[in-house]
Amino acid sequence: MIPTDQIQAQLPFCLEETDFPTLGEKYIGKVRDNYTSGDKRYLISSDRLSAFDRVICTIPFKGQVLTQMAKFWFEQTKDIIGNHVISYPDPQVCVGVQCTPLPIEMVVRGYITGVTSTSAWFNYEKGVRNFCGNVLPEGLKKNQKFDKPILTPSTKAEHGDHDESVSREEILKRTSLTPEQYDFIADASLKLYNRGVEIAAKQGIILVDTKYEFGLTPTGEIVLIDEIHTPDSSRFWFADEYEKRFASGEEQKKIDKEYLREWLAERGFTGDGEIPVIPDEIKVETARRYIEAYELVTGQKFEAEVGDVTERIKKNLGI
Ligand SMILES: Nc1ncnc2c1ncn2[C@@H]1O[C@H](COP(=O)(O)OP(=O)(O)O)[C@@H](O)[C@H]1O
Ligand SMILES: [Mg+2]
Repeated sequence: MIPTDQIQAQLPFCLEETDFPTLGEKYIGKVRDNYTSGDKRYLISSDRLSAFDRVICTIPFKGQVLTQMAKFWFEQTKDIIGNHVISYPDPQVCVGVQCTPLPIEMVVRGYITGVTSTSAWFNYEKGVRNFCGNVLPEGLKKNQKFDKPILTPSTKAEHGDHDESVSREEILKRTSLTPEQYDFIADASLKLYNRGVEIAAKQGIILVDTKYEFGLTPTGEIVLIDEIHTPDSSRFWFADEYEKRFASGEEQKKIDKEYLREWLAERGFTGDGEIPVIPDEIKVETARRYIEAYELVTGQKFEAEVGDVTERIKKNLGI
């Protein structure tokens, strides 16, 4: 694990935003800066951290962790479904095939958990027993494993709006997706999740839930786009403590971005109003957890690229 002072030293070099007009047309997402040129899409993972649908601050090495983790998982799952990856010219840049994104996000949940209004546990606690078309039995406890993983697709909100979780029927009613397309990505999502669970389990980690995005390539093939099984798109818990904590009703030991979300929530911030100032030590601890997540989940050592990220990317991309 990287020493804390090395994370601290990277604080001034975080990649907040990019301005690379020669790469193509720019779309600034919450986390990635995207440039499209012809059939190619450059996905540059910034070091921005988003929570409650707001960009909160930058976290050292976050963009590199995210890109490298997604790279690991794209490799591990390419036999299940093709993905958009063409190449990685820099540790935090993925060049992908420019696709037409399908209008939904496929969320797969293995456990009933979460505190936000779109989460399974939040709804169950309020009395919901049919969650996005999944009939849930009485008597479930927080963080309990479902008999079988469930799908809770959500519509993709426009910039600034919140996503909405709905059923298959609603998706087909509200979007242009055909039943065949829906069933294809539903099946792929469950297989991807199961593969994730299997690989994470070997590392002593539980892949709790995750979301996938799919797109149509210029030749009409449906592929996995965006990212896969990263701490931004997934929850991870430590497997060795799961049973004990579940039995006693204690929270699970997490290795995901919940750390900063909880820090914010404790200060009364859940998305509205002014974002609290995040102290350096909280940013460093958040970075440490992202790196820990990478190392634990992939079983590989994180090779931190220290120094000016913008200059390095320019050099690696020859721009
Ligand atoms: N291969 C691809 N083709 C087209 N769009 C993509 C591809 N991969 C990812 N995307 C889109 O690019 C964006 C990635 O940046 P992100 O920061 O996640 O943005 P957002 O705030 O929209 O979620 C997402 O909107 C995602 O749907
Ligand atoms: Mg996104």
